[in-house]
Amino acid sequence: MISESISDPSAVTFHFNGDEIKAQDGQSVAAALLNVGARITRITRIHSQPRGVFCGIGICFDCLVVIDGVPNQRACLTDVRQGMKVEIQDGVGDYAGDSQP
Ligand code: FES
Repeated sequence: MISESISDPSAVTFHFNGDEIKAQDGQSVAAALLNVGARITRITRIHSQPRGVFCGIGICFDCLVVIDGVPNQRACLTDVRQGMKVEIQDGVGDYAGDSQP
């Protein structure tokens, strides 16, 4: 039964734009974000439009986020990890400490 498999939703805690989010171990970042109503994962480079999870299978790249300072991570293909820091990606994203455009 599905509800039995998610009986401990507090198994993993991570941060999304500074907010603490609880998720189940093995859940994708995308699923965890959708579960709490967070729909925006990135802002487009040219027109600054919001994007979020679309295909859910790693094809569209609309779910790109910055994870622990590394941009261009697909939220739908990345499992949550205890303590990870996920941020909305603005444009192409900058690597932590990288001053290159
Ligand atoms: S939602 Fe399409 S690649 Fe993640």
